[in-house]
Amino acid sequence: MSKLTNKSIVITGATGGIGAAIARALAADGAAITVADLSQAAADNLAGEIATAGGKAIGVAVDVRERAQVRAMLDKAAEAFGRVDVLFNNAGIAQTRPFLDITEEDWRLVTDVNALGVLIGMQEAVKTFQRQAASGLGGGGKIVNTASIAAKQGYEPLAHYCASKFAVVAMTQAAARAFGKEGITANCFCPGVVATPMWDVIDKGFRDNKLTTKENEAFDSFAATAVLGRASQPADLVGVARYLASSDSDFMTGQSLMVDGGMVFI
Ligand SMILES: NC(=O)c1ccc[n+]([C@@H]2O[C@H](COP(=O)([O-])OP(=O)(O)OC[C@H]3O[C@@H](n4cnc5c(N)ncnc54)[C@H](O)[C@@H]3O)[C@@H](O)[C@H]2O)c1
Repeated sequence: MSKLTNKSIVITGATGGIGAAIARALAADGAAITVADLSQAAADNLAGEIATAGGKAIGVAVDVRERAQVRAMLDKAAEAFGRVDVLFNNAGIAQTRPFLDITEEDWRLVTDVNALGVLIGMQEAVKTFQRQAASGLGGGGKIVNTASIAAKQGYEPLAHYCASKFAVVAMTQAAARAFGKEGITANCFCPGVVATPMWDVIDKGFRDNKLTTKENEAFDSFAATAVLGRASQPADLVGVARYLASSDSDFMTGQSLMVDGGMVFI
């Protein structure tokens, strides 16, 4: 038995680089995972892989910007596994734009997923946790948000992405204050430069905007600032995810843990 055995854990953006690593690892720990992402087929695929490996998982399609879909995601998790213990708000998108070129449309695109999506996820998760407490299923509940080094530093040309991630930290702190008395915690972790499809998008954006010329040049130059001397892999985020999902972090709330190989010291 691990501390996560039979914990019902919902992960958004769960078929992406970081989300999938966390989903696989926590399923191997014995948690029941709701694999939630835009594509039902991709979610079912990963849930099937987890089941084949002996774990428990369901796949759910969700667009985190849509409250009704987020509500349905949490209800499906509760229906499949009896309750919801943890929500990872991990879905996110990035876009590279020089500061002066960011349009209102760019701003809305990025902040709708990364900030509004997290607000909706947190609100609906708290309602789920409160409902469980009122119906004798046990109180408490954990929210874990994926923030970023970009939640602590403004990077050009990612101003709107950074703003969306600063917002994640703000909402994490506010929710921690709002729901602490109910035993509901909210924390986030802040990855650095992780080799996932998201960085392919960022790196291409640097080239498209003529800020770099070579493939992976932006990725390599950002990653080179990590004092541990390498870029992150999704597996580097599994330890912090496991900690924040388990009872080991019960007395911690409102916090942002930097797991970036030593890029940003706060
Ligand atoms: N890769 C990095 O270097 C890095 C660094 C810091 C923080 N992060 C954050 O980590 C999280 C995961 O990113 P990743 O690197 O694994 O990227 P990724 O692109 O591999 O995965 C992101 C996932 O989010 C999903 N998604 C996007 N929009 C969605 C929406 N509207 N509704 C539901 N799902 C949606 C995508 O389909 C994808 O599977 C993001 O929040 C990202 O901002 C990444």
